[in-house]
Amino acid sequence: MREQIRPASALSGAIQLPGDKSISHRYGMLAAIAEGTSKIANYSTGADCQSTLACMRALGAEIATTDGVVSIRGRGLDGLTEPAGMLDAGNSGSTIRMLSGILAAQRFVSRIGGDESLSRRPMDRIMRPLAQMGALIEARENRFPPLSIRGTKLQPIDYIMPMASAQVKSCVLLAGLYAEGRTTVHEPVRTRDHTELALREFGADVEVQKRSITITGRPRLLARDLEVPGDLSSAAFFLVAALLVPEAALTIHGVGLNPTRSALLDFLSEMGAPIKVLDVKQVGGELIGDVLIRSARVRGGLLEKARTAALIDEIPVLAILGAASEDGLTVRDASELRVKETDRIATIAENFRRMGLSIEVGQDGFQVPGRQRFHAAELDSFGDHRIAMAFSVAALAADGPSTMEGADAASVSFPEFFATLHRIAR
Ligand code: S3P
Repeated sequence: MREQIRPASALSGAIQLPGDKSISHRYGMLAAIAEGTSKIANYSTGADCQSTLACMRALGAEIATTDGVVSIRGRGLDGLTEPAGMLDAGNSGSTIRMLSGILAAQRFVSRIGGDESLSRRPMDRIMRPLAQMGALIEARENRFPPLSIRGTKLQPIDYIMPMASAQVKSCVLLAGLYAEGRTTVHEPVRTRDHTELALREFGADVEVQKRSITITGRPRLLARDLEVPGDLSSAAFFLVAALLVPEAALTIHGVGLNPTRSALLDFLSEMGAPIKVLDVKQVGGELIGDVLIRSARVRGGLLEKARTAALIDEIPVLAILGAASEDGLTVRDASELRVKETDRIATIAENFRRMGLSIEVGQDGFQVPGRQRFHAAELDSFGDHRIAMAFSVAALAADGPSTMEGADAASVSFPEFFATLHRIAR
């Protein structure tokens, strides 16, 4: 699908975002292995989180959606049943990587795969710790989906993670649910902690000491009624849009403000963005609040080390803000971008080239000069939701109408993205 995006001179109104993608996956999986019926409000409408629900349904959980609330009748820790066919994770790395931790401990064999993009993404990062726990997993070329997982009894481990990845951490913790004893994961930098918080909500015992997380195996998980906060990573597109267009005043209601995710707001504020956060409260262990923003010229910035990891999903849209900023943006230590839904360093650079924007690309980062002019262009998502949304935002600041090829990719995390954008932009 091709979408036309016209330049905007103003952006105003109040918006609400679909439920956080990361949190939705975790609630969906944990509810399916809990005892009783969980009701999850504002569960993400994105295709990725629907893939998780489809997998859990294929594993025996009863799932229904009424008035935007997902009800999941869980099967208990040991109640999942052998799926009839291959489990389909679609485009979702979170689904395949996290669910593998659960599948590795079942009393049946399962196969899980996904689309073309997912089939190119590395799975050895979860296969290594799971193998240490005793899991029996085969993969294409020993590292790519589809995975064939022969469930077995798992042993607890103490695992030092070689990379910053919340998906790997979560996979090991979910596998640790099934191992008798204590499983510990040590992270090189702190990554999003939604799994830790969600596990506690469902009744598991999780201890956190700095960057080491320990779960005690074989807990009794009990159904919960939960509400998923709006997705801050989806908010990022509108925050940057508001900064780019000349007249903007935008309110985003009910956004997740978990401190392991909110580095975005700190970074934008440091760049000089006029951001206000109001009405902060706690739901299901997660922080939620309203975010207000106005248009402004921002300084540039530098992303490296832990900060790059904390902002990994927001880097495509921050690259665009960098090009419009006073001093530009430098991104280092971002080799993980090469193994996302696309090689995001390459797909950012290609769309920059099409808009006549300069960027200097390295193996694990890039440098974008500031004060650049955005030219209308035929843009391409390359099938990557965040590239589709980031460059649609860039098109708002261009000197004429642009097109986005493969715009439908946005529905992986945010099916309502274009409708929302067209509603608030003038
Ligand atoms: C996610 C973790 C991150 C992120 C992804 C969602 C999660 O991936 O990029 O969009 O929900 O745990 P990595 O764990 O590969 O860094």
